[in-house]
Amino acid sequence: MKSLKPEDFLDGKVIDGKKLSNEIRSQIATEVERLTELHGIAPKLTTVIVGEDPGSKMYVRMKHRACKKVGIISDGHTLPTDTSEEDLMELIEDLNRDVSIHGILVQLPLPRHIDEETIISAIDPSKDVDGFSPRNIYRLFYGGEMLSSATPQGIVTMLDSLGVNLDGMHGVIINRSTIVGKPLVMLLLNRNITVTICHSHTRDLESVTKQADILVTAVGRRQGDEDPFFITKDMVKEGAIVIDVATPHGDVDFEAVKEIASYITPVPGGVGPMTITMLLKNVLAAYSFQQAQTNVLTTGAIDYGSYVS
Ligand code: GUN
Repeated sequence: MKSLKPEDFLDGKVIDGKKLSNEIRSQIATEVERLTELHGIAPKLTTVIVGEDPGSKMYVRMKHRACKKVGIISDGHTLPTDTSEEDLMELIEDLNRDVSIHGILVQLPLPRHIDEETIISAIDPSKDVDGFSPRNIYRLFYGGEMLSSATPQGIVTMLDSLGVNLDGMHGVIINRSTIVGKPLVMLLLNRNITVTICHSHTRDLESVTKQADILVTAVGRRQGDEDPFFITKDMVKEGAIVIDVATPHGDVDFEAVKEIASYITPVPGGVGPMTITMLLKNVLAAYSFQQAQTNVLTTGAIDYGSYVS
């Protein structure tokens, strides 16, 4: 992928995730056009939602819109809340077999009567554009980043794009989820960053966050009205890179922390747009991988990260 110049997406210390995303999305669009012509088939994402959760529906709509803008075909299955696990499994197996579909995304959470692990494990790992399947998590443990979780990929893409030497830095992550905190550990380790994960049971959080050269926070809980921010200026080391993943309100007291941070992400307009961009990158990577599997050689311009098999 063409390397991006920090001045293209930095506004002083502020990392503009929307600008960086737009740069990457335009490169993805160029690559989609080139490969569609080369292979005679466009990349395609299929999404699955079970139930009526308005948040899930909104996120999936945003994913379809983003696909369309870069030339990725997408369609979706919306199933009723009372869909059985067996019926959903049957659909996943059909989608796995369909060679016109390169990426499958089952929006989480699923209704409680369906076992998420069973469903996610059933997705063909080469079509698993969320990077949630056991095979892709295993690959991540061995250093492969190609189909890994989108939000952590968005975070490290921001860090990589800064052009800063990250080697040996101390990264502190406040989040231990399987979608954000845990995969991010692996991506930071791949960059020789020393990693600490904090969570709700961490003692003396401030003493840990103050050691962070890179502080990533994804708590998403507002404090009281008087003291609304989870991360205040006194919890941050001078010169730290501060990445705020929380939505819809950031965890970080942005204006105050900006004074001492070397770089900082805003909310909105920081990590958020990067997440969908990394999903697009994953769809393109899955498609390229599947086309290569069918013995068509490509000269890819985009660096998808290694796919350790
Ligand atoms: N629910 C919340 N975040 C995600 C995500 O990244 N992927 C899927 N499939 N579901 C989600």
